[in-house]
Amino acid sequence: MLKLDLSKCVDENKFLAYQEDVTRINDMINKRNGAGADYLGWADYPVNYDKEELERIIKDAQYVRDNFEVLVVCGIGGSYLGARSAIEALKGLYPDDKLEIIFFGNTFSPNYTKQVLDYLKYKKFAINVISKSGTTTETAIAFRLLKELLESKAGKDGARKAIFATTSKDRGALKTLCDKEGYATYVLPDDVGGRYSVFTAVGLFPMAAAGLDVREFLKGAQEARELYNNDNIKENACYRYALTRDYMYKYNHKSVELYVQYELQYVQISEWLKQLFGESEGKERKALLPNSVCFTTDLHSLGQFVQDGTPLLFETIIRVKNPNLDTTVPHDDDDLDGLNYLEGKNLAFVNEKAFEGTLKAHVDGGVPCGVIELDKMDEHNLGHMYYFFMRACAMSAYLLGINPFNQPGVEIYKKNMFHLLGKKGY
Ligand code: PA5
Repeated sequence: MLKLDLSKCVDENKFLAYQEDVTRINDMINKRNGAGADYLGWADYPVNYDKEELERIIKDAQYVRDNFEVLVVCGIGGSYLGARSAIEALKGLYPDDKLEIIFFGNTFSPNYTKQVLDYLKYKKFAINVISKSGTTTETAIAFRLLKELLESKAGKDGARKAIFATTSKDRGALKTLCDKEGYATYVLPDDVGGRYSVFTAVGLFPMAAAGLDVREFLKGAQEARELYNNDNIKENACYRYALTRDYMYKYNHKSVELYVQYELQYVQISEWLKQLFGESEGKERKALLPNSVCFTTDLHSLGQFVQDGTPLLFETIIRVKNPNLDTTVPHDDDDLDGLNYLEGKNLAFVNEKAFEGTLKAHVDGGVPCGVIELDKMDEHNLGHMYYFFMRACAMSAYLLGINPFNQPGVEIYKKNMFHLLGKKGY
């Protein structure tokens, strides 16, 4: 279960004045009658998901595990960050797994693109292309390259058996191609936006292919949905977290929320959070800038700023009490590094003391720090936490008076880029 500790962040009595707004907005989420309500499908998706499709996802993912060396997951933004963050958080950065997962189609980087293609030349690989629109340029270029490589290695028929697409149910360029070529397809429902799609096939297929228990992941989300559909702010940690964000922004003059965690394999969780909150709220010249650090690594870079720099931020620390793996500091006869005082201690203990010492330093330095704690990182708890953040994001955006589900600003650079690239109509 997730715990929220705001004792070093904000006086929760300040939240009482929000009760009426929270009740109104919770109702808006449930009745789907607020701004962008057509995209509230994610709120009930963990129970309303397509049961037949889930079985197919699990079966096809097993087929990929049994028959390929690599799965290339080709997508960007909301069509990529959920799966990547979940797989890295749960499997680590050097997983000892028979199927390697490579994330692709999330950049124009010529170096990365060519390096991956060269690597794949000698691998038996399958593709999961993910794009709701089917026209996202990074993903479309990457998929065209992958498909060409795969067809040159395995022929059109072989490629057909190795391509799995997640896209809109009945529209878009990718859907048209899938129908024409006969690829296996899964649906990203029309009423679920990319950054809210981790519980759909967008997140579930790559996760299942990585050998993760996606049913447990959904169960965690179901549990969170039950728990956080509650307008009582004294009981609802999800909305108390949303209120913390609102209070920090409107009344405590903070402009940055800094997501903090203490595990390298959770860095992508912060990336997922940055997209979720940044793309949902950063509109109309409003909202907190979501940023992130991984401690203690970044205590040796941004730590100085956090402690002593412009007081524009507050921290949201994601703390996982029990690591899945650990190791112990060994004895050294010479003790030239002076570390024998830690002999026999495990790194979880050292990391814990670093967390406690840093928390005290930052709080003493005037940085408000909220802590979200999970007992351990597993599919269930991660599903619970992702739902927690998605629901908190909807509440937080509506408190700002913003539609959480569109992203009008994202189109502006695209128009310029298409014009410069010479695309017809730009
Ligand atoms: O959250 C979002 O809506 C975006 O990040 C999209 O997911 C992203 O732009 C990819 O879009 P598409 O799935 O259409 O390729």
